[in-house]
Amino acid sequence: MQPLAPEKKELDPIETASRDEIEALQFHRMKRSLKHAFENSPFYRKRFIEHDAHPEDLKSLADIARFPFTTKQDLRDTYPFGMFAVPQSRLVRIHGSSGTTGKPTVVGYTQADIDHWANLIARSIRAAGGRRGDILHNAYGYGLFTGGLGAHYGAERLGCTVVPISGGMTERQVTLINDFRPRIIMVTPSYMLSILDEFRRQGLDPRESSLEIGIFGAEPWTNSMRQEIEEAFDMHAVDIYGLSEVMGPGVAMECVETKDGLHFWEDHFYPEIIDPTTGEVLPDGEMGELVITTLTKEGLPMVRYRTRDLTRLLPGTARSMRRIEKITGRSDDMIILRGVNVFPTQIEEQILKCTGLAPHFQIELSRSGRMDSMIVHVECAPGRTDDAARTQSAKELAHHIKSVVGVSTRIEVCDPGSVARSEGKAKRVVDNRPRT
Ligand code: DLL
Repeated sequence: MQPLAPEKKELDPIETASRDEIEALQFHRMKRSLKHAFENSPFYRKRFIEHDAHPEDLKSLADIARFPFTTKQDLRDTYPFGMFAVPQSRLVRIHGSSGTTGKPTVVGYTQADIDHWANLIARSIRAAGGRRGDILHNAYGYGLFTGGLGAHYGAERLGCTVVPISGGMTERQVTLINDFRPRIIMVTPSYMLSILDEFRRQGLDPRESSLEIGIFGAEPWTNSMRQEIEEAFDMHAVDIYGLSEVMGPGVAMECVETKDGLHFWEDHFYPEIIDPTTGEVLPDGEMGELVITTLTKEGLPMVRYRTRDLTRLLPGTARSMRRIEKITGRSDDMIILRGVNVFPTQIEEQILKCTGLAPHFQIELSRSGRMDSMIVHVECAPGRTDDAARTQSAKELAHHIKSVVGVSTRIEVCDPGSVARSEGKAKRVVDNRPRT
């Protein structure tokens, strides 16, 4: 694989600015943004007054801790447009977070918001090694989901030739990759695995494909999965993070030259890490829940939004902006099994150690009596489908999970192709425990 890092002169000046310059910009923007929220969103005005927090009270960046948190529930309570800080007529786009049930949470963008977003995605693709003129296959879903259109506008802004294929129709994804010869693909990592299977089903060698860069996000994935994809396609796999409530993809991005966590685009977003139970702000380096304050959003400013994503803040490396560690779990997808905390990504890591298994899996939780149990449904690797190989793989995986994660599990090794595929975010956990 070729080294791909952009040269310093290609970067936005703020990407390599000093910490003092970054913090001065953040402070100026934070003050302006809090004032905008207070003056133009009745929701924030009421909240701030209730908490006796006034934008004028902000004397340093750390003073943001005096302001109240915002949660997904606030967006639900004000559905659809109750939190916006501009009249609806100034919004040029609406997106929504899919959620699995009920109404989506609605977010809105002014033209300036869309422009900032496109710039940040362009910056992110460049950090991945992408350049003007590259063909970019965009398999994130188009629609209310922010992945498709978010990536699309940013790729155009950088000057890429975008193939707006969206998710689904996997056979056609492979045909178009072969015909158009894109250098970059943007897609969820779990759907990339389905595309990989389809390459193999068609008897094509994925290493011979034109793809050099994969920009994967929208769901947790591990460094083991990175290795798997990089080897299978002979490509660079980098991580992109974001969430619709705060903007969409492009809040933080991994740089291809270091692949050591995601640089948080601090000129537009202010990160904090808090203890998820007490709400207390934790120092850099400590693990906790990521809380984000937007610094430039007009349509829907977010003040101290609780993401539920668990990570830690690390110093900058390839850029001066701080990094977040790869997000491997959310406080709400953590499984507590007989007192042990388990994340689906920990199971993924152990599966990838077993050569007899393919990385398609789903975790089923059930309860008999008072006892919770976990079954891991995982596919056997093609060529390792006989009974003896399956029994061996199941034993191996159960052993790895027990010794590394610390829980006993039942392993069901199933046929290739039998675990439900998603064309976007994978559903890793099916919880059949009775709700009490
Ligand atoms: O998933 C935006 C996105 C699209 C990000 C495409 C990256 C690429 P939502 O549907 O609102 O927005 O879901 C946001 O997805 O809070 C995380 O829990 C999870 N997530 C997003 N990116 C990553 C990532 C989009 N790189 C929620 N690693 C977030 C781990 C991620 N989890």
